[in-house]
Amino acid sequence: MHRALHVIRDEHRSLSAVLHALRHVTDEHAVNGTRPDFKLLWAMVDYIERFPERLHHPKEDAYLYRLLRLRAPEARATLDALSAEHVEGAGKIARLREVLDHLEAGRVNTRDFADLARDYADFHWRHMRVEEDAVLPLAERALTPPDWVEINAAFETNDDPLSGVDTKSSFDTLFSRIVAMTPEPYGLAGPATPARS
Ligand SMILES: [Fe+2]
Ligand SMILES: [Fe+2]
Repeated sequence: MHRALHVIRDEHRSLSAVLHALRHVTDEHAVNGTRPDFKLLWAMVDYIERFPERLHHPKEDAYLYRLLRLRAPEARATLDALSAEHVEGAGKIARLREVLDHLEAGRVNTRDFADLARDYADFHWRHMRVEEDAVLPLAERALTPPDWVEINAAFETNDDPLSGVDTKSSFDTLFSRIVAMTPEPYGLAGPATPARS
């Protein structure tokens, strides 16, 4: 498999795991009336904002989608819709951050935040499903070897500590922290605390 496809699928899996944890942790607090662990929620939102929003999606647009638009014009409508979702996603994560801030300050309740987190996770899962089911298989068929050289080089810098941007290893560290802080069964932190908010 091309290196970039491996990186993209791997990044989708990590994002999906954080979205699952975010959704279920916030839902449990909303149902039980317990006070969320804000350190954990901020770490999750930071991860989503710094990794997929600033690194993963921009590279899809600048390399994978750009070259695929040239090689497979029939896919342009799908790619345009996905690019529009990248822009929409940036607004959604900013809103999530804003409502988390309100939640911590007691201006909204946990259900408000849990509903927003569920909408955000569903939005992202639909987006990644289209990429995995339609875009990546098409890329394997339509892109040329020189295209892959360019795309692989772009996605490999996600692992390069000298690339000057946040790297995969810094996200792996943040991801591990999130897993360690997340209660079972989505993480390793043991059962959620029963304290009431
Ligand atoms: Fe994307
Ligand atoms: Fe993606």
